[in-house]
Amino acid sequence: MIRLPYPHLARNADQALNLDGYPLSHIAAEFDTPTYVYSSAAIAQAYQSLTAAFGDRKHQICYAVKANSNLAILALLAKLGAGFDIVSGGELARVLKAGGAPKKIVFSGVGKRAAEIRQALEAGIGCLNVESVSELARISGIAQELGVVAPISLRVNPDVDAKTHPYISTGLKDNKFGIPIEQAPDLYRYTARDPHLRIVGIDCHIGSQLTDVSPFAAAAERVLALLDVLILEGIELHHLDLGGGLGIRYTDEHPPTAADWVNTVVSVIDQHPIARRLPLMLEPGRFLVGPAGVLLSRVEYLKPHPAEGKSFAIVDAAMNDLMRPALYGSVMDIVAVRPLPVCTPAVWEIVGPVCETGDFLGHERHLALAEGDLIAILGAGAYGFSMASNYNTRGRPAEVLIDAGSAHLIRARETTESLWVNEQIPVNYQ
Ligand code: LLP
Repeated sequence: MIRLPYPHLARNADQALNLDGYPLSHIAAEFDTPTYVYSSAAIAQAYQSLTAAFGDRKHQICYAVKANSNLAILALLAKLGAGFDIVSGGELARVLKAGGAPKKIVFSGVGKRAAEIRQALEAGIGCLNVESVSELARISGIAQELGVVAPISLRVNPDVDAKTHPYISTGLKDNKFGIPIEQAPDLYRYTARDPHLRIVGIDCHIGSQLTDVSPFAAAAERVLALLDVLILEGIELHHLDLGGGLGIRYTDEHPPTAADWVNTVVSVIDQHPIARRLPLMLEPGRFLVGPAGVLLSRVEYLKPHPAEGKSFAIVDAAMNDLMRPALYGSVMDIVAVRPLPVCTPAVWEIVGPVCETGDFLGHERHLALAEGDLIAILGAGAYGFSMASNYNTRGRPAEVLIDAGSAHLIRARETTESLWVNEQIPVNYQ
């Protein structure tokens, strides 16, 4: 049975799974497997649930492009009015290609290269979220060279525990991210004196897949304490950015709703007489696209164990297509596209063809499976395709968007030949 967090998935009368009414078996027949399938309606609804929660309060949602950077997804979000949080020159180029407004782009990340900073300043993006003193100096030099004034936010590290997986926790002082919040006033002073830099805001992002709102409130409080110091110094700000991180339900989590998240941060920020007048920015990634996508895969072989050992369902998707289970031990729901009443459910290890024991998509799943059946891995719209690789020389999956009852191929499956276009065999080996 499909649970609520994926309202766009349903079963037809014949029990076949569909996404927004489009049978997933038809997608497999048309586009083969493995294939990522997304619902544009689910993305739009998630976006609208955030904007609705803000009501009249001035805000900007900057979609974290890294969650899913397909041009069609970016174009959809740009049309809905989203801005974008980027972390590379590549993501900047994608957003511009998809029609994103440069002024609504914020550029995060600890390691911006000189060429990327130049590219961002030339494009006229809204803000660079700066993560170190050295980065500030580099941006200033490049702005001077280009004869522009760089819009700057300092990404501060508020030392707040996001209580999430350690790999995706970013707001603790031991993490590489941001400027320790106690050093921020000094850096703001330094920035304010530099004619090539213009302070526009404060930024922080404490982690991803948060299932509790209290760390967001704690981070907001710390940002306000910093704001008080800056006000005393006469430093003016034009926005506050509290990052992304709202979790989604993969199995049995109980994440806050969009309204819980927005209300939590707004209720802290709007107690402050100056902060309440500043536009509030959020950088959600997973929340907008995660629940909207599934990874569709086909069972190649069943290796049932005759006795007590594990039974393996070997499917055509693997850790290179969806890395989250292997990398973080993430548990993602897996369902049969058409539950076959003819076979009884068994307990399966759902694994891919890659030559690593870490290549699993799910452990101990109770599923009624036969060879050739389709399965769907749910909640795969975020950090699925965007983290896929070509390990084992596997072309990355196709991506399909269901929009208004039609299935659009938004990325063709990679051909094998395309995987070595940048490789060269030295002449003496030929
Ligand atoms: N802003 C910044 C500066 C970030 O670093 C991130 C995510 C976001 C916003 C968006 O966070 P979200 O709303 O999606 O939680 N690959 C991991 C997640 C890595 C998140 C990295 N930063 C996963 O699959 O769980």
